[in-house]
Amino acid sequence: MAAIHAGWYLAAYDNEVSEGVAPLELGGRRLMTVREADRVRVFDADCPHRGAHLGYGGTIDGDCVECPFHGRRIALGDKNKRYAVAEHRAHLLSGMLFVRLRSDHDADLGFEATILRYAKERTFVPMVNAHLPTSTRMIMENGFDSEHFTALHRMPGFSRFTAAASETGEIAVTAKFGSKTAGEFYLRAFSPTLVVTELRSPERTQVIITGTVPEDGGCVMRIGFAVPPEDEALIPEWKRMTHIGFEQDRLVWDHIDESAPPDLSKADSLIQEFWEFCEKFPTIDGGRR
Ligand code: FES
Ligand SMILES: [Fe+2]
Repeated sequence: MAAIHAGWYLAAYDNEVSEGVAPLELGGRRLMTVREADRVRVFDADCPHRGAHLGYGGTIDGDCVECPFHGRRIALGDKNKRYAVAEHRAHLLSGMLFVRLRSDHDADLGFEATILRYAKERTFVPMVNAHLPTSTRMIMENGFDSEHFTALHRMPGFSRFTAAASETGEIAVTAKFGSKTAGEFYLRAFSPTLVVTELRSPERTQVIITGTVPEDGGCVMRIGFAVPPEDEALIPEWKRMTHIGFEQDRLVWDHIDESAPPDLSKADSLIQEFWEFCEKFPTIDGGRR
């Protein structure tokens, strides 16, 4: 089986996770969510007895899930039990479910602390949820592609991107945008499929979260904002702008030939850095990349 990475994913939106037991697919890895009100836990979904998918028809029974096939009780996360499924790290933070698959690698890169800090002051607001015939890498490199912000999105006054220091191993870039009262663009990739961007102006800091999950023939892309209470009135306008930007990108992604050999120049150095970050990122077995 191909490898999937050991870092964080934006795995679903709140409204995609139903109460009780439900399947969750993450790059070919068979998982299930167990939800009780606002608490969601994520586990492997294969019944250790004969491989039934516990997410389809499993029912909660105390700290176990009862398998729909032969009715055996499968312990949730308790490795000392004969029949048990592994638990993965997960946070449902208002609108978004973040998941990191259990592995020997410490591929957190400071994401958990970052996202929990936002969650104290902000609500996560989903804006885009789309299936695309495009690789996760093609989509995620978007944030490192300074040229396309002016050419495709017509954003004026975007300075050249520069690599920013990172304390926890994530890959980060900064740029200036706008005219006199320059704002700051600060983007960090915490895994090959999860990017957090801050657009800082004197008035406010917009926080945009972009995530992809690989699936057969492409990926699912999700974009949302982390919004503080004082900016809630701006959500409809931000949604509108986000959809315009997304459709501009999508027109390119839907028709690009990803197998065409790239002919990069010096201006593309940050894209190359992002590719190298992805190549070196720890992987685990069990799905598509
Ligand atoms: S496959 Fe689950 S109990 Fe048999
Ligand atoms: Fe874009």
